[in-house]
Amino acid sequence: MRAAGAVASAVLEEICAWITPSVTTKDIDQHAASCIRSHGAKSAFLGYRKYPCYVCLSVNEEVVHGLASDRHVQFGDIVGIDVGVLFRGYIGDTARTVAVGGCDVLAQKLIDVTEKALYEGIAQARSGKQVSDISRAIQTYVERNGFSIVREFVGHGVGRSMHEEPQVPNYVDGKPSPRLRPGMTLAIEPMVNAGGPAVQILRDGWTVVTKDGQPSAHFEHTVLITESEPEILTWPAKHLLKPKAR
Ligand code: MF3
Ligand code: CO
Ligand code: CO
Repeated sequence: MRAAGAVASAVLEEICAWITPSVTTKDIDQHAASCIRSHGAKSAFLGYRKYPCYVCLSVNEEVVHGLASDRHVQFGDIVGIDVGVLFRGYIGDTARTVAVGGCDVLAQKLIDVTEKALYEGIAQARSGKQVSDISRAIQTYVERNGFSIVREFVGHGVGRSMHEEPQVPNYVDGKPSPRLRPGMTLAIEPMVNAGGPAVQILRDGWTVVTKDGQPSAHFEHTVLITESEPEILTWPAKHLLKPKAR
């Protein structure tokens, strides 16, 4: 899981560094494909329930599962990039939202709050706590900052398969909540809307968008529960980021 996490985050890092105004999301997806390949990994998304792309690219009001297309990303857009790789039998799953060049103040606050909410959640990912402690920390932080939590999609256990038990909601649902134990690996992934929480799925069957057209952000890490501090597995290991000799 550590190796898969390191590869996933290295790929995410490489994609973020490569995005620039005027490239299409298809270009980004193709670049992602070659990054994943160069690490000897496979996309965990391509073909998953017939998903047609290597990574998920969600622009502005797109929440998650955006499909690569001929759309050019522009200065001021925010792009959610979700990378899932299969490496030596295990999955690493990580996402980040970045501004293309720069973005307006509201979108930047949305990005910052969503990222901080992820770390608030991760701080609760400790043995003896419950999944709902993660959920509560995320929800409290997001709502205190005036943004809303998407309900329809949640974090999850991750291991040999991408989506394993338990579900990790980003809000408190009042249901009995599993106890966290050392060795569990969770994908924690707040999806946060600037406007209302409602979302809908486009006719392509995949792209999730906000109903009110306001922007949305998404951050995700794969996290290991230990005897003490949570261990974030989706940090890029420096040796994986060295530029290749030409
Ligand atoms: N990576 C998403 C998650 O974080 C799942 C993407 S499923 C796909 O759980 F089919 F869209 F790739
Ligand atoms: Co993901
Ligand atoms: Co995930």
